[in-house]
Amino acid sequence: MSPLPDRPFGLPIDHFGVAVHDLDAAATPWAVLGLPVAEDEEVPEQGVRVRLLRAGDAWIELLAPSRDDSPVGRFLRTRGEGLHHVALRVDDIEAELARLIDAGARAIDAHPRRGRAGSQVAFLHPGWAHGVLIELVQPAAPR
Ligand code: CO
Repeated sequence: MSPLPDRPFGLPIDHFGVAVHDLDAAATPWAVLGLPVAEDEEVPEQGVRVRLLRAGDAWIELLAPSRDDSPVGRFLRTRGEGLHHVALRVDDIEAELARLIDAGARAIDAHPRRGRAGSQVAFLHPGWAHGVLIELVQPAAPR
């Protein structure tokens, strides 16, 4: 089993993903809190529209389905609006994922796939992390 890297500060939170029906309506409370909108993006492969809100060194990622049969659309139907996933930032997602699988993690993605803005992402099964869907994200460039 590959050793756990020496990380006294753990892994930084990259973002929280929140499943919502309507981006504009869902962004309002965050705007009142003072989180500026960073950008909107459509991810057709995932059937989702994304609105990123700045929260210091991290982000809130609002996710609204662009079609009903998308993963976020199904989540909304079964669970309703709310916290969808927690994303941790990693430097080397390929190595991290291999180490986690080696350590017994249940990965949804056996290999990283393309995320937004040139990032690479991989999801770990909520059944492994006691109900939390965890996303690993390796950003394309420093931000
Ligand atoms: Co995410």
